[in-house]
Amino acid sequence: MEVFRSVAQIRALVGEWRRQDLRIGFVPTMGNLHDGHFALVDLARENADRVVSSIFVNPTQFGPNEDYALYPRTPDSDISGLRAHGVDALLLPSVEEMYPFGTANYVQMHVPGITDILCGRHRPGHFNGVATVVARLFNMVQPDVAVFGRKDYQQLQVVRYMTTDLAFPVRIIPAPTLREPDGLAMSSRNRYLTPEQRSLAPTIHRALRAMHAARTRGDPPGRIEGVGEKLLLDAGFEVDYVEVLRSDLSRPRESSEPGLIAFAAARLGRTRLIDNLDLDD
Ligand code: PAJ
Repeated sequence: MEVFRSVAQIRALVGEWRRQDLRIGFVPTMGNLHDGHFALVDLARENADRVVSSIFVNPTQFGPNEDYALYPRTPDSDISGLRAHGVDALLLPSVEEMYPFGTANYVQMHVPGITDILCGRHRPGHFNGVATVVARLFNMVQPDVAVFGRKDYQQLQVVRYMTTDLAFPVRIIPAPTLREPDGLAMSSRNRYLTPEQRSLAPTIHRALRAMHAARTRGDPPGRIEGVGEKLLLDAGFEVDYVEVLRSDLSRPRESSEPGLIAFAAARLGRTRLIDNLDLDD
């Protein structure tokens, strides 16, 4: 696996591959990699001839009171994990490489509509930062396909919208959510949890499963949301949202319509956890 810090280097290698008619798969990350990330790499490998990954903790997607400075940075173990999963090239750009005019005067993306709800409402500006950095990464790497996890479903939709609207020649592939044995979705932020919080954290998945059961019973979306919210509040979470939406993130009109998804975001102490579950699978 070749490790690059500059855009020019990665472009040269990808250009070489392209001349050989090889398909390029891409997996962007913020590092502190776990099996959920590695599953994305494996899926990219199934859909491409060469796999590029990136590690960049993107300052513009963190709010002023969020964990940018504290975000876990573990480059050595990340690099060996990516190497073991057969990644061909890794891009590790500096903030200056990513934002040549600095993080106060940079060209910004804004995806309208779907960024005003769910996490967008609770993390103003977050998805502008995500869309901004993903657009830059797509330009830098110029992949044919890119893999994003369904764990961050709203992010996946933001990336799809931007890719379609700006005509990026990139196919977006969604990857299923990888979970710990007790149901907790794998996340770099799980390492912030105290042992006591860690034992409570799977409640978020349990709440989504209870919502699934309520759906199977035929409950309408409003009542299903109440079921999930109560479980989280009773376990001591501070709830940001529990919502049932369509797969395009619009509100369901009829309770009988298929394809609904339950979304939850809740905090244990200072750690914010998000998860979602298809209600009709
Ligand atoms: P990060 O949180 O590192 O996640 C990188 C990718 O891994 C995302 O597509 C995310 O959805 C996926 N992922 C994380 N946990 C997962 C799990 N348990 N199962 C399946 N996939 C999982 O998301 C970001 O970084 C950033 O916002 C980024 C897209 C890199 C832009 O900065």
